[in-house]
Amino acid sequence: MSQNGLRPCIVVTGASNGIGQAMAESIAAKGVVVVLVGRSDERLTAVAEEIAKRGSETLVLKLDLLADNAARQVKDFLDANGLVCDVLVNSAGQGLQGLAASRPLDTQLRLIDLNVRLLVELTLTLIPDMVARRDGGVINLGSLAGLTPGPQMAVYYASKSFVSSFSQALYEELRGTGVTVTCVIPGPVETGFLHGRGIKDLPLFKYMPTLSAEDVAEKAWRGFRRGRRLVVPGITSKLAALVMSLVPLRISLPVINRVQTRWADPCPCGSGKTFIRCCGMTSSARRRFAFGIPGLLEKKPKSPKAKRVS
Ligand SMILES: NC(=O)c1ccc[n+]([C@@H]2O[C@H](COP(=O)([O-])OP(=O)(O)OC[C@H]3O[C@@H](n4cnc5c(N)ncnc54)[C@H](OP(=O)(O)O)[C@@H]3O)[C@@H](O)[C@H]2O)c1
Repeated sequence: MSQNGLRPCIVVTGASNGIGQAMAESIAAKGVVVVLVGRSDERLTAVAEEIAKRGSETLVLKLDLLADNAARQVKDFLDANGLVCDVLVNSAGQGLQGLAASRPLDTQLRLIDLNVRLLVELTLTLIPDMVARRDGGVINLGSLAGLTPGPQMAVYYASKSFVSSFSQALYEELRGTGVTVTCVIPGPVETGFLHGRGIKDLPLFKYMPTLSAEDVAEKAWRGFRRGRRLVVPGITSKLAALVMSLVPLRISLPVINRVQTRWADPCPCGSGKTFIRCCGMTSSARRRFAFGIPGLLEKKPKSPKAKRVS
């Protein structure tokens, strides 16, 4: 029980599925009150029942985090239940694949609202109480995607870059307050995130080894308890992070563009054909696309045939 009679709790967003669910379940094993936040009533109830079997108390807050004042609604829910947030886990997030210029703008802005705006709003709403108590912290789900620009998933990669930058800056600002911020940056994880949006079908994710949500959750929690600024779970993610830091963007960007293009999508060169039937097909075109030799992607205008003068 804290000084003002409020009970400390752990708030997990995106607790109905994937990494958020795994975080909630692994934290609950430690016997604290867990508040599960998500949209899907049925899934949240199932997770709560599973956690209850382990003897921990859970409260379910069914909430669309894109709703107005979502962060305020979380805080009001805690106040109404006599709780104070000890640890906030920001796991709710969405991905999106495709050319930014041809994807619906609304969808891309909603992604920013959830992955960036809500994360900031919730963090900054709940952190002041932690600082006042000189205890607690935040675990933010970033991604390896945040380490580089990501053509074909431009807005998602940029949103994760923001999460990483924001989390690390906060970590430093809060030094000495007793409050820590940990940014977790996993590579691909076996969750609905990969499968639900067909991201798993992209050439990059087809062959890249995946982590389990439980493994990520366990490493994230351990890193947080140790006061780590960054947690990169798994050896393949660590290697990928190292490679990304070494390879110049001039080389990596065209490669990422290539391996994140779905073969049945319209070819980005604007030919109107599918990618596999156009730049993804011939070896010379594939080379051009993969290595982005300047100017070669644009169609060369045909030189006018010289008229034979008889
Ligand atoms: N899976 C990966 O490969 C991977 C890799 C690196 C980083 N990440 C990051 O890890 C985090 C969790 O991803 P995941 O793999 O666990 O994804 P997931 O299985 O798709 O789960 C996403 C969670 O976010 C919640 N959510 C989505 N929109 C919401 C909204 N508007 N309001 C409330 N909740 C909402 C979902 O809840 P409802 O279904 O109940 O709405 C769900 O619980 C994300 O931030 C993601 O970017 C994932």
